[in-house]
Amino acid sequence: MSQKHTVISPANIAFVKYWGARDLERAIPVQPSISMTLRNAVSHTTVEASDASGPDEVLVAAEDGTLAPAPPAFQERILPHLERLRQRAGSTAALKVATRNSFPSAAGIASSASGFSALTLATAGALGLHLEPREASVLARLSGSGSASRSVMGGYVEWPVASHGEESDEAAAAQIADAGHWQLADVIVLVETGPKDVSSLGGHRRATTSPHFARRQELLPGRLEAVRDAIRRRDLDALGPVVEEEAVELHLITMSSKPPIFYWQPATLAVMEAVRRLREEGLSAWYTMDAGANVHVICEETAAAAVASELRGVPGVRGILPDGVGAGPRVSDEDLF
Ligand code: DP6
Repeated sequence: MSQKHTVISPANIAFVKYWGARDLERAIPVQPSISMTLRNAVSHTTVEASDASGPDEVLVAAEDGTLAPAPPAFQERILPHLERLRQRAGSTAALKVATRNSFPSAAGIASSASGFSALTLATAGALGLHLEPREASVLARLSGSGSASRSVMGGYVEWPVASHGEESDEAAAAQIADAGHWQLADVIVLVETGPKDVSSLGGHRRATTSPHFARRQELLPGRLEAVRDAIRRRDLDALGPVVEEEAVELHLITMSSKPPIFYWQPATLAVMEAVRRLREEGLSAWYTMDAGANVHVICEETAAAAVASELRGVPGVRGILPDGVGAGPRVSDEDLF
């Protein structure tokens, strides 16, 4: 007997970043982070649980639908997570996984957030495990991708929330507001599409070696409150400056870690400059970047087309992925095998 389950899960863009962990293995952050769950940048994952004996199988689907074994480094991250979920379900089933992303992987578009969110939910489904959102968030986090714990929920999400035990294994995300609360767009500006040199994991590990890390911790509580408040009031002109400050500070820390990590490309700075120009022309648009060179430009949905057409022309820009706030993961009947 076998059971197949497919889930499509979105990536998210952090307004207040997770950077630096108390416990990196279990992805327990030093402080909370807040993100917006996206709609179009998704991971699509099918998991089949079967009685057949044999090792688990992890496949990557190409754009034309053909399946190939996942690279070893990718398998190394996924297989322990499958084992964890199997144990949690009290199962001995062999698992077959196929996955694909709608966007370039490992380029600062949180592929592991959407990937581990989709993997956790699809595996749970295939194993007959019913997960409440809070439990799904904890399990997704235990994959090692902290940001995955935010992608299991739609809208505007904070992780971890104090009532869920900020420092414990139970550190889970909670929704601040659903997607319908505020139609924000994320115009994703691609300036590089290859994998980044240093993973987020490597970055978290080095974060505390930056002389700016400690100061950031003092600033974060006020910033988190400002972002929660701006989301509640749908006030983009209050949210935007904090989001930009956060993005720059994340990169200030990466660039001053030992050894330093430089994620930005010249085109990253050119896009930042173009966004500032758009504001001078009266458009409320604000940039942020995760651990990569690509730029996410946050604006009202009604301004997204104008922002995209302006930024498409910036030298070094390789493409635009229009995105925006989304409702979170969904079960799909489009199985990948
Ligand atoms: C800069 O450890 O969750 O995106 O596994 O690569 O998604 P990935 O990284 P993770 O760290 C996320 C770092 C960040 C900020 C954020 O999303 O909060």
